[in-house]
Amino acid sequence: MEECKPVLNTGLRGVVIADTRICEVDGANGRLIYRGYLVQDLAENASFEEVAFLLLYEKLPDNAELEEFKRRLLAERQLPPAVIEVLKNCPKDALPMDILQAAVPLLAHHDPDKKDQSMEAVLRMSIRLIAKFATIIAAWDRIRNGKEPVAPSADLDHAANFLYMLSGKIPDKDMGRFMDKALVLHAEHSFNASTFAAREVASTRAHIYASVAAAVGSLSGDLHGGANTRVMEMLFKIGSVDKVKDYVKQEFDAGRVIFGLGHAVYDTDDPRAHIVASMSKVLEERSGKTKWYEISANLEKTGKEEFKKLKGKDIYVNVDFYSGSLYNSLGIPVDLFTPVFAISRIAGWCAHVVEEQFAGAAPKPTLYRPESEYIGDYCGPDVCEFTPIDER
Ligand SMILES: CC(C)(COP(=O)(O)OP(=O)(O)OC[C@H]1O[C@@H](n2cnc3c(N)ncnc32)[C@H](O)[C@@H]1OP(=O)(O)O)[C@@H](O)C(=O)NCCC(=O)NCCS
Repeated sequence: MEECKPVLNTGLRGVVIADTRICEVDGANGRLIYRGYLVQDLAENASFEEVAFLLLYEKLPDNAELEEFKRRLLAERQLPPAVIEVLKNCPKDALPMDILQAAVPLLAHHDPDKKDQSMEAVLRMSIRLIAKFATIIAAWDRIRNGKEPVAPSADLDHAANFLYMLSGKIPDKDMGRFMDKALVLHAEHSFNASTFAAREVASTRAHIYASVAAAVGSLSGDLHGGANTRVMEMLFKIGSVDKVKDYVKQEFDAGRVIFGLGHAVYDTDDPRAHIVASMSKVLEERSGKTKWYEISANLEKTGKEEFKKLKGKDIYVNVDFYSGSLYNSLGIPVDLFTPVFAISRIAGWCAHVVEEQFAGAAPKPTLYRPESEYIGDYCGPDVCEFTPIDER
């Protein structure tokens, strides 16, 4: 048999490591497709709950299925009191993504299914995780501000209930709808870094809480989910439209990135970016204060122009770019932007864990195990001779 020589491919770019039926990212044509449906059609027509069902169960629900799914999510919104107690004992300046990551295995302690490796059990745990992520984040924001968590409302859908638990006020129709659309747009994106982390852990047959905790850690980085927080910090730093050009030049001259620009997969517009932009524009115009949207729009234009001059090629905004101003208009604190991404992406992660463990199409090795190329030293032509500690 011919020997298969490993190829060095840093960052796994261009390497196909599994098949999937969950999502297709068509980077050349700027299309994002969840289980066969364009993301913009889903954002226009479906709720987050419908999309979570679609991702988990491979089809859009009918009315009865959706009602039952919503009933199950609703029943799982509350956190175990012991988990709230742990959150209350965390330092108030803890990073919200660290809190979320830490809360995931805490939830596992209270899950009667955690040792059950059947697909039905993994789906039940998925529903619990999807239901509880929003509650963890809202509860943490209340706790760190010295307030009691707001109990979930049985009268609100998933998105509106999150805004309600955060502020204690029922959001108006536009706010609830836009939050819901934002959740739909962020629910899934194929084999990005966090989903890959989730699937890699799932391939070891660890339980879903271990997979999801790894995914949360991966999402927290600035080059992945952390970018939406960095976008808003960047807008605050710029402060006004007339400062945009200087800011862009200064960042490019220093070799730094403009957050929210560029994507590892899209060679054109990220199909989600301008849906998010239009929601941000509507909310800012409604409030009569359009500053952050205007700075963003100017930054998009200037960033693209300067990038073209510098690198001789095009760059496009990604989903995080206008999420900054949108989430700001929704009253979400800046350091919760990335956790809000997780509130949505948990649906995609769970679908991938289920697929990794139960539903892959092609026969695949049970355990992910890439190789690395050793570039360390030997002490001469071969391995080092061990030197006792006193002789070193
Ligand atoms: C997302 C990201 C990591 C993709 O990186 P990538 O796949 O390596 O991107 P590319 O290969 O297209 O980068 C090509 C060049 O453009 C530069 N570039 C990419 N995004 C840039 C940005 N936002 N600002 C400035 N320069 C950027 C890279 O540094 C690279 O420069 P080089 O050729 O001189 O080394 C990158 O675009 C980035 O860091 N963006 C900002 C962070 C962000 O918004 N992340 C959220 C992603 S959804």
